[in-house]
Amino acid sequence: MSVETIALQGFGGLKLAADVYGLAERPTVVLLPAVGQARAFWRGAAVALAEAGRYAVCIDLRGHGDSEHARDGRYDFDVYVEDLRAVLAALPNRAVVVAAGLSALVAIAVAGEGPGQLVSGLVLMDATIWFDETEVARQREIHIRRADGFDGPADALDEFAALHPGEPQPMAGERLLAAFATGPDGRLQWRGDVKALGATSIRNEEARLADAAARVAAPVALIRGALNDTVSDDAMRRLRDAIPGAELTEIEGAGHYAATDREDAFNSVLLDFLERRAPRQPLTYIGGSEPRVLRDALGCFGTGVTIVTTVSASGEPVGLTANSFTSVSLDPPLILFSLGGDSSSVAHFKDTGRFAVNVLHIGQQPLAARFTQRGVSRFEGVEWAILADGGSPILAGSLASFDCRTFAAHEGGDHLIFIGQVEHAWFEPHRDPLLYFRGKYQRLHFA
Ligand SMILES: Cc1cc2nc3c(=O)[nH]c(=O)nc-3n(C[C@H](O)[C@H](O)[C@H](O)COP(=O)(O)O)c2cc1C
Repeated sequence: MSVETIALQGFGGLKLAADVYGLAERPTVVLLPAVGQARAFWRGAAVALAEAGRYAVCIDLRGHGDSEHARDGRYDFDVYVEDLRAVLAALPNRAVVVAAGLSALVAIAVAGEGPGQLVSGLVLMDATIWFDETEVARQREIHIRRADGFDGPADALDEFAALHPGEPQPMAGERLLAAFATGPDGRLQWRGDVKALGATSIRNEEARLADAAARVAAPVALIRGALNDTVSDDAMRRLRDAIPGAELTEIEGAGHYAATDREDAFNSVLLDFLERRAPRQPLTYIGGSEPRVLRDALGCFGTGVTIVTTVSASGEPVGLTANSFTSVSLDPPLILFSLGGDSSSVAHFKDTGRFAVNVLHIGQQPLAARFTQRGVSRFEGVEWAILADGGSPILAGSLASFDCRTFAAHEGGDHLIFIGQVEHAWFEPHRDPLLYFRGKYQRLHFA
């Protein structure tokens, strides 16, 4: 699973660090951790989302992790709302927002207050609008302890556990600790602007949030760790009743850290909700529209990978990676491949009247990559030979090689279709093929 770190723009152009998973053209899911947590908190959910065909964007809140600190010191509720609005407005499609704790309330404000419809769904973890005084004081205490730092990882995890005595010990320690780094004094310090901790109060936002909740038009899933000792099931049921059509699911056996400690359970609730309430549109290609979509559709046809070769007029070997290889006829024995009209090799393939197709095995992936590169001497260090009179370069150890005389060459749009009559074929019966599927090299994995 490829992960890339990018910078997004929050309110006033403030840079927010984000890890992105999956392909950018897929439906987007923005994941926001609770105040105090880093973007790594959502890593497990992001991987599951990307594997399910979505584009997951895990963001560090302002003043948190690798995001910029607020130059004007602003960490109030409204500025988090503006950050999320700015991020969502810049996305190519309307995102689903997955958020925990205070960020869940930020998401409710964005979805319920407009302007416009910026989200296509909300998945909110451990959220309540109605806190009592004792709980507010306890949250402040938690933030003060975070700002002080800890003696080391074990101490930090013990403290996290002590803050929620009725809950199971958090398991995915490394993700909680991603919000910290070891300082020069050897202590574990919170990575961010300590001014951000405990700076946001929603005490005066209850009426506003209840109002926003009632106006959320997008589908909403509320998820609560059944043992969460801060957000009661009563509070979450009240929130469910306040949001039209909202669903509430409890995850057994987990408290605050259900998303990490009971990751499979959390992810299955998340993915099930998205497939039902925010389904992915099948991508559609209509003649003349975005060719990338057509390429993706064609990429659903898994193929082997070959290197097609011939020789130049001066006898130098020429070759490129091609997966357009197809068998055509047994009598006469014909095969084909198609060559891009802009390939530097077109003239050689046309002139020599012969070519070979070398089918690659799994160990030849480096060769496949090399034979797409321009400006390198592709055959250098590669074992090859011309095995038959008037033949073309055969790469040693290939899974199969077909040495051909050019039978016909047809124009096919921006490609040339070369049909070859097979004069010799060699094959190796034991190795696994190198495969190509959805734009990536793959291997067989039969159980
Ligand atoms: C898996 C894979 C399959 C490819 N299949 C073809 C193909 O069938 N025909 C083609 O012209 N190019 C194909 N290419 C692209 C060529 O390898 C690449 O454009 C070529 O090497 C560019 O160099 P050239 O100008 O020397 O031909 C493929 C690339 C990859 C990675």
